[in-house]
Amino acid sequence: MLLQVTNLQHLYPVPRGRPQTVLDLPDWSLDEGQQIALTGASGSGKTTLLYILGGLLPPTQGDVHFSGKPLYQLSEARRDRWRARTVGFIFQDFHLLERYTVRENILLGQLFGGSAKRSRIDELLERLDLGEQQDYFPRHLSAGQKQRVAIARALVNQPSLILADEPTGNLDPERARSTTELLLQQAERQGCAVIMASHDPGLCRLFPDNFHLSPTPPKQSLSSS
Ligand SMILES: Nc1ncnc2c1ncn2[C@@H]1O[C@H](COP(=O)(O)OP(=O)(O)OP(=O)(O)O)[C@@H](O)[C@H]1O
Ligand SMILES: [Mg+2]
Repeated sequence: MLLQVTNLQHLYPVPRGRPQTVLDLPDWSLDEGQQIALTGASGSGKTTLLYILGGLLPPTQGDVHFSGKPLYQLSEARRDRWRARTVGFIFQDFHLLERYTVRENILLGQLFGGSAKRSRIDELLERLDLGEQQDYFPRHLSAGQKQRVAIARALVNQPSLILADEPTGNLDPERARSTTELLLQQAERQGCAVIMASHDPGLCRLFPDNFHLSPTPPKQSLSSS
């Protein structure tokens, strides 16, 4: 088992009101290499859950075990080091560094993880069909190409988990589909688990498993399709 969540609750403070519970997950887990689409209405807590699972947001209650170890018992500095080596993030708006080229963006991701292997970057550029654009700056890329750079950067340190927050929200439907397929294919090749938040039922069908977050806790359900 890669991830296990027990008695997880998250509340956000509300100005002049009682804190709002946005997540209530009594028991949930993810296997190594498992690929899950995370669904749920806007505001149901998908982004919040991805941040908690990636070690970026300590939950109000409960814990997240990663490979059997309690994530939030690590210091913030150790969690940062763990994240750089273990988790790849992909966002809707790419989060590429505009002043660096495609190759440099991927290299920076690699350096954060503590290594610098040129052949690994060459391999990813080829696998994601970015060889010709490797010296381009992000402003010279199409949206689909930018997202492929973000996927390459997320995969570069051989993470065991990719967390993707509506990564194809800025792409047209055809690109969204091919980019999601590429992400799943490349993650599978590296044995990397994927959790991808999406509103698009067509994309969710590409995943072996779906996990639906209900907007009002505690009702949650896990279904396989
Ligand atoms: N930093 C914050 N402070 C207070 N409330 C927050 C904060 N971040 C999110 N929320 C609230 O928590 C709830 C869940 O937000 P979240 O962004 O996780 O939902 P989501 O499922 O990702 O929505 P969407 O599909 O629109 O991206 C929302 O009601 C939101 O207003
Ligand atoms: Mg969100």
